[in-house]
Amino acid sequence: MSGDVEFPMNGGDGANSYSKNSRYQVEAVNVVTEMIKEAIAKKFDVTSLSFSSNTIRIADLGCSVGPNTFIAMKNILEAIEWKYHSIAYPFPQNENTLFTTLPPDRQYFAAGVPGSFYGRLFPKSSIHLMYSSFALQWLSKVPEELLDNGSLTWNKGKIHYTIASKEIADVYAAQFAKDMDTFFNARADEIIVGGMMILIMPGFADGVQYSQDPSCPFFYAFNQSLLDMVKLGMINEDEVDSFNLPLYATSPKEMAKLVERNGCFNIERMEVSNTRPQNDGPPIVPAILTHYRVGLEGIFTKHFGSKIVDELFERTLNKSAEISSMLESSCVEGAQLFLVLKRK
Ligand SMILES: C[S@@+](CC[C@H](N)C(=O)[O-])C[C@H]1O[C@@H](n2cnc3c(N)ncnc32)[C@H](O)[C@@H]1O
Repeated sequence: MSGDVEFPMNGGDGANSYSKNSRYQVEAVNVVTEMIKEAIAKKFDVTSLSFSSNTIRIADLGCSVGPNTFIAMKNILEAIEWKYHSIAYPFPQNENTLFTTLPPDRQYFAAGVPGSFYGRLFPKSSIHLMYSSFALQWLSKVPEELLDNGSLTWNKGKIHYTIASKEIADVYAAQFAKDMDTFFNARADEIIVGGMMILIMPGFADGVQYSQDPSCPFFYAFNQSLLDMVKLGMINEDEVDSFNLPLYATSPKEMAKLVERNGCFNIERMEVSNTRPQNDGPPIVPAILTHYRVGLEGIFTKHFGSKIVDELFERTLNKSAEISSMLESSCVEGAQLFLVLKRK
């Protein structure tokens, strides 16, 4: 496993921890679990891969804390076991809570690798299967152009591209393109030829407007809360001007172009899927806000200081009705990209 070094989620196992608030991600992964199993059954050919000590090595990139990584590993191992009728082993991490919650009946070795997945994490040609869910939406950094005072790409008074101009969205897209190339190059070194990479991340069908991203109403509400706090003198205008969330959601067309341009992987399967079971009812805004809190509290605290965080989330919670009404025109269905790649 690797994760929780860049933009860490809330740790531990308290009420506002990622451990206790990662149900949306696991439900979203559940929607594509059969696709993961099918990809392994059809495309993960252990017999053609090179092995040392009969060990299959699997890595979960950006595993965070909580049960989701164990569920992912269980699914992957079951699929490999089903295919080869034998038990396989894996892999890595770095957050104490995670190691204290490892499933006692696990059929694998667990280890942690601190470091960013935008750099090398594992030895050359050492990994057979890489998995990553809901981590690649985090850019490696906030693009500098967004802070370029007075220019067209200065994201003044806004905290994200989904609520800003096309120029701002283009800056984010360019950073995502650079980051994915760096990511693919690092993984290409680490994954054995013929090895597999399964990626699940926020994404939309081609042509969906970025303002239809269901995160947009939430980012808009956070933004409004921050601006209200500027008016009340709780924070400075400059602090909002210089804050941008380094989060990005992609599309199949964009991703296909990036994989092709990089040249190290073949796309075996790619599709947009729902993140929630059918007939799940309308999204419950306060519950989703708690999910945002566990993911974003760290980055808000780092920039604005810990004193404003409760106020920011409370004010945003008070905008729940507005968020709900904005969500009605959002692309709540079809909001994740499922991607299976094979190392050439
Ligand atoms: C929303 S959590 C997803 C956790 C888990 N994979 C799941 O599906 O529930 C995102 C994780 O990605 C990690 N992350 C973000 N950027 C990263 C980077 N550049 N390198 C490694 N981990 C990163 C965060 O620290 C966090 O653990």
